Amino acid sequence: MGLTAQPRIRLGTFPTPLYFAERLTAQLGGPRIYIKRDDLTGLALGGNKTRMLEYLVADALEQGATHLITEGGPQSNHVRQTLAAARLTGLETVIVSNTTDPNPPVQGNFLLDHIFGIEYHRVSEERDRPARMAQLADELAANGYVPYVIPGGGSNGVGALGYVAAMLELNYQLWDQGVSASAFYLPNGGGGTHAGVALGAALYGAEYGVRGIMIEDNAAIGAERSWKIVQETAGRLGIACPLTKNDIICVDGFVGEAYAVPTPEGLDAIRLLARAEAILLEPVYSAKAFAGMLADIQCGMYSSKESVIFLHTGGTAALFAMTEELAPILDGNERTRHDATL
Ligand SMILES: Cc1ncc(COP(=O)(O)O)c(C=O)c1O
Repeated sequence: MGLTAQPRIRLGTFPTPLYFAERLTAQLGGPRIYIKRDDLTGLALGGNKTRMLEYLVADALEQGATHLITEGGPQSNHVRQTLAAARLTGLETVIVSNTTDPNPPVQGNFLLDHIFGIEYHRVSEERDRPARMAQLADELAANGYVPYVIPGGGSNGVGALGYVAAMLELNYQLWDQGVSASAFYLPNGGGGTHAGVALGAALYGAEYGVRGIMIEDNAAIGAERSWKIVQETAGRLGIACPLTKNDIICVDGFVGEAYAVPTPEGLDAIRLLARAEAILLEPVYSAKAFAGMLADIQCGMYSSKESVIFLHTGGTAALFAMTEELAPILDGNERTRHDATL
């Protein structure tokens, strides 16, 4: 079944802007940097999961689901957006969250989860989440409900359809703005976004290469994971896959110590983009990916006449739970004066 025939519901505001970062481009001396603003997708503060949930929730509704079951840590952007999507569609939501903290701080995404209303089941380890979701699905089914399980980050062949469609949207914007791009950068976590982008880029004849900056695990694992999702998505579309595994380019070197632990170059990227363009990245995904793109630019991979695109996948809500981690770039205080005598 082709893309337009796939079940989809509207959850976001599209198209998102394709923004030319003119000041940053000038500051770096080129290439021309464009930012695809998927931090502005509109659903509950936006982010990449909106596009994926448009297909996942539509699939759930087609299957007569009463409940969405999904997984993530307390600062999961995917969980926040799933709770919001459920509110728009009348579905119940059950969340399996991995944390050893019996009372995770109600901040950032987790604060928003509470506003939307969250029922969550705690497991200690991330690897225990799928089994717990399956158990909860069985319990719901035994009680006459219809559960629909969404894997972490919505990264499967249904969710990735959202990014196949996004590439169609981007194609029009590139044509409209007269841009011919050399590369497209994005973070690769669960790999669904990268899978959809890579497949969509191939299907719609993109000139640019797609580079997924790993933000957890290594490039070999990431490429394998995204490749599986590419095949699943192509199957769902009923097409022969136009890619091979070698076409999935994942880049190592920017994870740092671990997933969700900020890196110095990521923090620098947050400050750079905030001060050049007033656009906010966050340390877990977008800042590490942006740092990956900057490293390629700084090593001279592109001429000043070329154009590159960065997919801003959102996640900004997590900033509000990371004051300590952001401390190294909070250097404004020395300029604060208290003019008591005025
Ligand atoms: C803000 C943000 N960016 C990027 C990603 C990675 O997307 P994917 O899991 O599809 O690789 C996520 C995943 O949760 C995210 O929340």
